[in-house]
Amino acid sequence: MDAPVLLILWALGTSLIAADPATSAEKPTEEPVPCSNGCTCLTEYYSIDLGVYCSSRNLTQVPSDIPSSTHSLWLDGNLFPSLPAGAFSHLSSLHFLNLQRGPLCVLDAQVFRGLRALAHLHLERNSIRTLPAAVFQNTPNLASLSLHNNQLARIEERLFAGLSNMWLLNLGWNSLSVLPDALFQDLHGLRELVLAGNRLAYLQPQLFQGLTELKELDLTGNVLKVIKANVFLKLSKLQKLYLAQNQITTMVPRAFFGMKSLRWLDLTNNRLSVIHEETFLGLHSLHVLRLSNNSIASLRAGTFRDLQNLEELRLSHNKIAVLGEWIFDGLGHLEMLELDHNQVHSARMGTFSGLSHVAVINLSRSCFLSLPDHVFRGLSKLHSLHLDKGCLTKITTQAFTGLSGLRRLFLQDNNISVVERQSFSDLQGLQQLDLRFNKISTLCSNTFYGLKNLDYLLLSNNQLRQLPSDALLPLRYLNLKDNMLSSLPAAIPDHMDKLWLSGNRWKCDCSARALREYCIRKPQACPRQVETLAEGDEPHTVVTVYNNITCSSPTSLAGQDLRDVDSTHFKNC
Ligand SMILES: *[C@@H]1O[C@H](CO)[C@@H](O)[C@H](O)[C@H]1NC(C)=O
Ligand SMILES: *[C@@H]1O[C@H](CO)[C@@H](O)[C@H](O)[C@H]1NC(C)=O
Ligand SMILES: *[C@@H]1O[C@H](CO)[C@@H](O)[C@H](O)[C@H]1NC(C)=O
Ligand SMILES: *[C@@H]1O[C@H](CO)[C@@H](O)[C@H](O)[C@H]1NC(C)=O
Ligand SMILES: *[C@@H]1O[C@H](CO)[C@@H](O)[C@H](O)[C@H]1NC(C)=O
Repeated sequence: MDAPVLLILWALGTSLIAADPATSAEKPTEEPVPCSNGCTCLTEYYSIDLGVYCSSRNLTQVPSDIPSSTHSLWLDGNLFPSLPAGAFSHLSSLHFLNLQRGPLCVLDAQVFRGLRALAHLHLERNSIRTLPAAVFQNTPNLASLSLHNNQLARIEERLFAGLSNMWLLNLGWNSLSVLPDALFQDLHGLRELVLAGNRLAYLQPQLFQGLTELKELDLTGNVLKVIKANVFLKLSKLQKLYLAQNQITTMVPRAFFGMKSLRWLDLTNNRLSVIHEETFLGLHSLHVLRLSNNSIASLRAGTFRDLQNLEELRLSHNKIAVLGEWIFDGLGHLEMLELDHNQVHSARMGTFSGLSHVAVINLSRSCFLSLPDHVFRGLSKLHSLHLDKGCLTKITTQAFTGLSGLRRLFLQDNNISVVERQSFSDLQGLQQLDLRFNKISTLCSNTFYGLKNLDYLLLSNNQLRQLPSDALLPLRYLNLKDNMLSSLPAAIPDHMDKLWLSGNRWKCDCSARALREYCIRKPQACPRQVETLAEGDEPHTVVTVYNNITCSSPTSLAGQDLRDVDSTHFKNC
């Protein structure tokens, strides 16, 4: 029993005790009631409603002895192939009927005769192919109707006539390819409509016209190709519209006009290549716009200009090669911009202008050779910038100007061989800098100038031969694995938490004495090995990561770990 129910029980219990202390103590949690053979009947004492549970009993027909006062009836998971006229006609109090998960294929037009009070009907996960036009005319008070995961291929225009109390209708995962124009016209109270997983290729402008209260519309996974004008015009209260996994190639200008309340629009996994600059006009409440995995090749300036409340814009997995000026104009509240997997190779100084609140930009898998000067200027709220897995060959002094709030900068898996002096000098807030898997062989002093708050510096898998001494200063974590280092600057800061050194060519002469002493004195900071969880394919296996400081020279010590070299070797240093 969950917490709210217990709370209600407690509240009712105490008021009963106050009213009648003598009888309330013996009050049973279940009242004995005449009950149908093989089913369980329950009346919880906090409610007078009778529930009859006949789930998964291999029933082939509805038991005839279900008490007429039944309020909720569970008949899910049984074996009815069909249901006859009047199957529930004596259950005039029935409010909830669950018939899901069975082989139901045919329903008589009069099957629900007498169920005037029925509010919630579950018919999902059966094999229903057609529904008689009048089947819901006996249940005028339906509030929710679940018909998903059946085999409906067509629906009669009058099927939902008069059901003005309905707020949830789920028709998902059927085989519907066409819906009659007036199908939903009486559903004035509908809040949520699910049509996902069907074969709808076309939405006619009349279809959603009566749905003035609709808040959520799910059309995911159909075969829609075109979004025509005025289809959503009357949906002024709609908050979420899901159109992902269709085959949409075209959306007319102002396709979403009228949806003043729309907060969430998902167009992921479609075939959009061109987006007209008036497509999103009028969507002043939009918070989330997903356009990932389409074929969008370019964005025009002003496309998003009405979206002043947008917080998340996803454009990953498209074909955007060039980011022009002012394309993100108007997005003053944007926090997250995803542009990864686009092969972007060029941007302008004004590309990101106006994104004054953006916190995360993902440009992973882009193909800049170098970044345009000042390209991120003005983005003072940016805290994570993903530029990994790209084609960068050098980092220039003006690339990161203005990014004073940046905390994490991802530059791993590029082709960077040159990092210009003071390239990071504006990044006073930077905590983590990832430069793994590049081609850096030298870093001059002043490379990390200005990075007062840098904690994590990842330089593994480069070709470093030397490290400037100022690189170590504020660090807590330094990864230098798999480079070509033979020595470290003499002063290793005492506050360092972890130092990774394996896969280098350590020269174990007097120049290594300070490092040896440091590692012997602080084995936690300079561990020989660490057990850690594997990444990638087998995430739950533990792997041992070694941190050997293997000597390359002098020849007499080659192959030994610096920490194991006898102290007598350093006595003349
Ligand atoms: C229903 O039938 C199946 C298969 O014949 C059987 O395994 C299962 O125990 C039956 N369940 C009940 C509640 O009788
Ligand atoms: C992109 O969409 C196609 C189908 O539209 C799908 O097969 C593919 O898995 C999607 N790719 C990603 C990365 O989501
Ligand atoms: C950025 O994109 C990469 C690659 O698709 C992904 O692994 C990463 O999680 C993304 N980061 C964010 C913050 O979305
Ligand atoms: C990296 O540079 C090498 C040549 O140095 C080139 O062959 C390779 O294609 C480059 N990789 C990328 C991702 O640009
Ligand atoms: C590191 O040292 C351990 C012994 O401490 C050895 O088993 C391992 O093979 C060494 N690894 C490398 C890469 O040298």
